[in-house]
Amino acid sequence: MTVNGFPRGFRFGVATAAIQIEGGTDARGVSIWDTFSRVPGAVERGETPDVACDHYHRWPEDLDLMADLGIQAYRFSISWPRVLPDGSGKPSRPGLDFYRRLLEGMRERSIEPMATLYHWDLPQALEDAGGWPERDTVARFEEYARLVFEELGDLVSSWVTINEPWVVAFLGHGFGTKAPGRRDWNDALRASHHVLLAHGVAVRALRELRPGTPVGITLDQWPSLPASSSEQDAAAARRWDGFKNRWFLDPVFRSAYPEDMVEWFESRVGAFDAVQGADLESISQPIDFLGINYYSRSTIRADESVPPLELQEVPPPHPTTEMGWEVVPGALYEHLLRIKREYGDLPISITENGSAYADPVPTNGLVEDPERLEYLRSHLEAVRRAASEGVDVRSYFAWSLLDNFEWENGYDMRFGIVYVDFETQRRIPKRSALWYRDFIAEHARTQ
Ligand code: FCB
Repeated sequence: MTVNGFPRGFRFGVATAAIQIEGGTDARGVSIWDTFSRVPGAVERGETPDVACDHYHRWPEDLDLMADLGIQAYRFSISWPRVLPDGSGKPSRPGLDFYRRLLEGMRERSIEPMATLYHWDLPQALEDAGGWPERDTVARFEEYARLVFEELGDLVSSWVTINEPWVVAFLGHGFGTKAPGRRDWNDALRASHHVLLAHGVAVRALRELRPGTPVGITLDQWPSLPASSSEQDAAAARRWDGFKNRWFLDPVFRSAYPEDMVEWFESRVGAFDAVQGADLESISQPIDFLGINYYSRSTIRADESVPPLELQEVPPPHPTTEMGWEVVPGALYEHLLRIKREYGDLPISITENGSAYADPVPTNGLVEDPERLEYLRSHLEAVRRAASEGVDVRSYFAWSLLDNFEWENGYDMRFGIVYVDFETQRRIPKRSALWYRDFIAEHARTQ
């Protein structure tokens, strides 16, 4: 342990995702987010990822900014349609070169790259062919993963296969609030299995092509709290946990979908018949770390009128961020201990954690964001406490480096520790970024 209580070698980083920051859309193929953002009413104010933070052109400046803040590791994502515009077939050389230069830029600045293969931007051509509910998309993903491992793998320190399969499957295909915006729970269940299988085939490909490079999957972990002491609410909260957390943890770490949830879905949605042959063996191959994205927890009440899960989220007991997400760092601490208790002593990376607040306009070149600073501080403290109690957590990535295209919320939900003026593309570190810089420097001194 070091002076500030984090294990030796612990890495402090920032995270982003391609479509949320890159822009440069004319230099890539169409993604499902380009299409979805043009559906009237799908994204707030009809905003699109067309320009975003223009990182495609401004990446040297953004890497300099990270270096100035002392950022040790950078989790970014590769845009599938930028390297394979049609999803499959002929790669784009300029697309691959862009990521090569970006990775070299990180290396020059001693920033460790963690690359995510899939952060939600499926090539539209593959959506047109059926998308994630189709098993063939897994084969296309393998083709994409192999290309990227071969072309860029020498420069990447660690890989995340899939970011938040729950969101891909259920927000994308069940609730329909994210791209591709489908509302078909059969499709959602099939998609959930196929994204997990995509994870499995990518792990196998990496082991073959770049043996020794660490790889993991990032799961969004969202603990649940029953709204009352009633038995129905307790069961509903457990169902939420099964849906949100165990549906992904169990296949990856126990090689089986949770039985209670399989039964629930089969009785409410229909046969869960996407699983074939050795799929679960592939999904549960050993990985090097579990990526956890943690933001909040949900307070859950049973409600038979809401299919298919028959539950509802109710207003939480503590203050919330601008997203309406309860601020509860203790739930992160408890969840980390639970993972260790129930799934084993796995290396963990907090691949995302952060908060949206309505920032004041910059004054004198500074943005005061006391709430975001406190969110960051208290969640780092929760991670430190879990580490000091034996959870093998090795890195933490603040979400996000920059204010960016926050999916269906558009540009209004500011998660950045660096403010972006979207009119001028000027970047202004917020107070939270300066605090994080000092915190990292303090840690580095004790190494
Ligand atoms: C996570 C996403 C990330 C960002 C944050 C706020 O679910 O992985 O892209 O939108 O939420």
